Amino acid sequence: MSRAPIPVAALTPFEARIEHAELAEKIARWDQAYHGQDAPEVTDDIYDAARRRLGEIGERFPELTARSPIRDKVGAAPAEGFGKLVHAVPMLSLDNAFAPEDVVEFDAKVRRFLGLADDAELAYVAEPKIDGLSINLRYEKGEFVSAATRGDGTEGEDVTRNLETFPAGQLPRTLAPDAPAVIEIRGEVFMTKADFLALNQRQEAAGEKVFANPRNAAAGSLRQLDPKVTASRPLSLFAYAMGEASSPPASSHWGYLERLRAWGFMVNPLIRRCDGVAGLLAAYESLGEARASLPYDIDGIVYKVDDLELQKRLGFVSRSPRWAIAHKFPAEQATTVLEAIDIQVGRTGALTPVARLTPVNVGGVVVSNATLHNEDEIARKDVRIGDTVIVQRAGDVIPQIVGVVPGKPRGPAAYVYPEVCPVCGAHAVRPEGEVIRRCTGGLTCEAQAKERLKHFVSRNAFDIEGLGEKNIEFLWERGWVRAPADIFKLRDRNDGEPLQKLENFEGWGKRSTEKLFESIRTRARMGLERFIFALGIRQIGEATAKRLARHYGSLDTWRAAMLAGTDEAAAELTSIEDIGPSVAQDLLDFFKEAHNVAAVDELVAAMRDLGGAVEDAKVIEATASPVAGKAVVFTGTLVTMTRPEAKARAEALGAKVVGSVSKKTDYVVVGADAGSKAAEAVKLGIPTLSEQEWLELIGAAG
Ligand code: IVH
Repeated sequence: MSRAPIPVAALTPFEARIEHAELAEKIARWDQAYHGQDAPEVTDDIYDAARRRLGEIGERFPELTARSPIRDKVGAAPAEGFGKLVHAVPMLSLDNAFAPEDVVEFDAKVRRFLGLADDAELAYVAEPKIDGLSINLRYEKGEFVSAATRGDGTEGEDVTRNLETFPAGQLPRTLAPDAPAVIEIRGEVFMTKADFLALNQRQEAAGEKVFANPRNAAAGSLRQLDPKVTASRPLSLFAYAMGEASSPPASSHWGYLERLRAWGFMVNPLIRRCDGVAGLLAAYESLGEARASLPYDIDGIVYKVDDLELQKRLGFVSRSPRWAIAHKFPAEQATTVLEAIDIQVGRTGALTPVARLTPVNVGGVVVSNATLHNEDEIARKDVRIGDTVIVQRAGDVIPQIVGVVPGKPRGPAAYVYPEVCPVCGAHAVRPEGEVIRRCTGGLTCEAQAKERLKHFVSRNAFDIEGLGEKNIEFLWERGWVRAPADIFKLRDRNDGEPLQKLENFEGWGKRSTEKLFESIRTRARMGLERFIFALGIRQIGEATAKRLARHYGSLDTWRAAMLAGTDEAAAELTSIEDIGPSVAQDLLDFFKEAHNVAAVDELVAAMRDLGGAVEDAKVIEATASPVAGKAVVFTGTLVTMTRPEAKARAEALGAKVVGSVSKKTDYVVVGADAGSKAAEAVKLGIPTLSEQEWLELIGAAG
């Protein structure tokens, strides 16, 4: 339920700051998903709209842009595993145009900047915008030396070895002697629609991952640590731009493209030279008509000022050149019949609906699955099984259902969204105000249990040495550990099945097995707060787990209160600092599931069998502390702890942490570079303490 955004001109500085931060975070996440994991989260339209809005807010409140994590970055930081290459010339992105007016505006801006009359001749080049991933190919003294992906625009991944698997017809190894001593050629690595479909068939037959679209297939194939895998994938390459060049290879972009062809690169045959806006829009029309029958995906058309001198004068604004723009095409659509709706359960328990379709060709790619997003979307569009629906492939996200085709026979009944998990049968609940329904079978649901176990053994939870993610996978696959309790029964089970003894497996051995059993045994004694955190209940992070532990004191008290599930129990929960109704609900929902209660009880029993227990929380006697009831101000930079940590510790001892110094203040703790607050304290005669003195006062000095 999105509300209409407040016009940027009407935003207060406060609203602007919040929205700017939210947008920047979202975009950074989307960039990471798109470039870092080849798994886009949103359509281009949504992404572009968010980018535009961020830009508008930034223009009106320039002070915000300095803080934005994506200020000058394009895409995501390079993935771990590849070497990094810093681009000699940053690899930037393009601004987008959606309507003809945007193109008119682009042309007008270019002319204004260059001081050209409206009717002066201005040549452009119009190029299909290939939907793949960009690459920088560096040649020195005519020899191919390296290839890098775009990465974050400044630094990309070194994929030289992978590009070396391309045939010479796609990637010339040497350039003719007329090439500049240093030249970087940029272009797009992509996969044709036919190659994508064939690859997916092979992947499916081999039980391997299938790709959502040609772009993801190209990205996934290029970014392989093993170049042999890249070699086995049908990738193609079009060249279309320039990075560093020791001397200009041409005076126009058009001339440059001709040289690229002469050097042996593939240059898209549909590139046209156009005059003025009318020429550009005509190119858009004709390419739009040809689009569906092209052998590869394009998501728009790129217009570039042809004259390289003019390009240089126009230069760049933040992340994109002034001399080019991408005019986007609308998403490609087709109609087909919705045969079924399957509900998938993700690793976090989120239920997501997947549409199963009568296979249909959407702009050259056969689509048989599409996303329906969530329960509300299905209801809002009233999509029913048996309906004829519009399916769309937008840019590079998973195909989506746009809606029902009007006037066609309808499916018999409105779709009823399941309220139980299709994998484990536990209740699937949907907290108020949220769109996602989630399975509550957390610890026992097959779809989630493996991830929960990894959380359970992680460092801030049970922290079982020798039992990392990889070993959990191993034990899970063999069926030896399926629930937390199994970890504590591992030794018995292992001893009981000599043929499958853990120590006989590669990478284990007698010593490491013994060590593992030993650390499991030590962890059978565990503090209540970590125990609660380890259960992986939704929204229960470390801080909340700690509050719960301190409030209830013992496992039995907590368990009984949660199981009571009464209004009083809920009220008691929300009386605890930082626990609101939604967190309280998640806790109670967890305990409403018999499977979860059983899993917790079995875990405790298994810990006891190893001589352990869940230890009561240490309740700090607040009134007994020397700072109980005192008003404390922290100022300046602290060395041994962060400010939130200092505040939490002081509060746990019963102190009241306040923001400003007044006559009512009892202590001012002065860190490094403290400012006016320290001076104010001296003026008012309030005792000031160094960080060390404060630690001594609260009995925490080391
Ligand atoms: S020119 C300074 N030309 O679109 C910008 N880009 O949104 C240089 N792309 O990262 C880019 N086809 O991955 C250019 N004919 C084309 C293109 C093209 C596809 C991609 C490229 C770039 C993105 C920009």
